[in-house]
Amino acid sequence: MTSFLLTDVLQEKLLQAARAARSRAYAPYSRYRVGAAVLDEAGRIHAGCNVENAAYPQGVCAEAAALSAMVLAGGSRVRAVLVAGAAAGASWTTPCGGCRQKLREFGAPETPILTASDDAIGPVFTLAQLLPESFGPDHLGRS
Ligand code: THU
Repeated sequence: MTSFLLTDVLQEKLLQAARAARSRAYAPYSRYRVGAAVLDEAGRIHAGCNVENAAYPQGVCAEAAALSAMVLAGGSRVRAVLVAGAAAGASWTTPCGGCRQKLREFGAPETPILTASDDAIGPVFTLAQLLPESFGPDHLGRS
């Protein structure tokens, strides 16, 4: 993928989209609300929230929902991600292991993953930092 600049304006748009999605989260069991926003290769932003289920394993993470929205809209590459969750001290909401792998499908090692709460910006990671030595489409002959 060609490199691009994640401008302040784009970061702010991701932040607003993720926070708005978080406000729609359906999390009656954990009460842990998460919103995610992904920026696709066309500069579009797709958001998702976590949707829990009485049959607990059937719940969907915010990142997975945002990726589904991106694919539905015709997007195929993730250029940046922002996850908005509750900030508990120094612990920010980063994608769970399964979502790191889901992001790996559409992202690149250098894809930035930003964190935030409702009132603060958290640290930024790359996908490779969160999922080192990962398995992906390239292993199966897909670029
Ligand atoms: N959750 C997310 O949506 N994304 C994450 O990155 C971490 C966890 C959700 C799943 C579940 O609904 C709740 O947070 C508590 O685990």
